[in-house]
Amino acid sequence: MPVATRIEEVRTEVTALAESARTVEDLMHGMVKLLHDRMLKYNWVGFYMLEPEAQPPVLVLGAFEGAMTPHTRIPLNQGICGAAASSGQTVVVDDVAKDPRYLACSLETRSEIVVPVFAHGAVVGELDIDSHFPAAFTPEHQDFVQHCAMLVGKKLEIAPA
Ligand code: SME
Repeated sequence: MPVATRIEEVRTEVTALAESARTVEDLMHGMVKLLHDRMLKYNWVGFYMLEPEAQPPVLVLGAFEGAMTPHTRIPLNQGICGAAASSGQTVVVDDVAKDPRYLACSLETRSEIVVPVFAHGAVVGELDIDSHFPAAFTPEHQDFVQHCAMLVGKKLEIAPA
């Protein structure tokens, strides 16, 4: 199946999941499972959410699918995860071995995307995906993962976790 077709199929499924999920927690758990199961190169999929009121701010591992990671709490000045949350920008890394910010989760990881989740205009967390394949996150994937993160942000706005 062409990758564009698969992305369109899973985009439809994930959008339906956002409508049917009862809570944001249900949506995040269902979404990481769906993305991990259906997207062939998404080998680790997880959410990191900003801990409310924490000073200094810290990202805490939430729903995920894939191998357990040593990075369960990430300060905003560390990692690709910290870079995405502190800048409010999507970060795509085609070759993690060449990025000095990278915090290793699995020795097999070759590329990574981290997309911030916004609610009421502020970053509240992020969707992090690792791939065993180099440069897995082309612009089509970036657009799709941003759509997924947006669905979680919108759900948070109407139904807090
Ligand atoms: N690689 C991330 C850390 C999280 S693990 O990939 C699950 C980073 O550099 O921030």
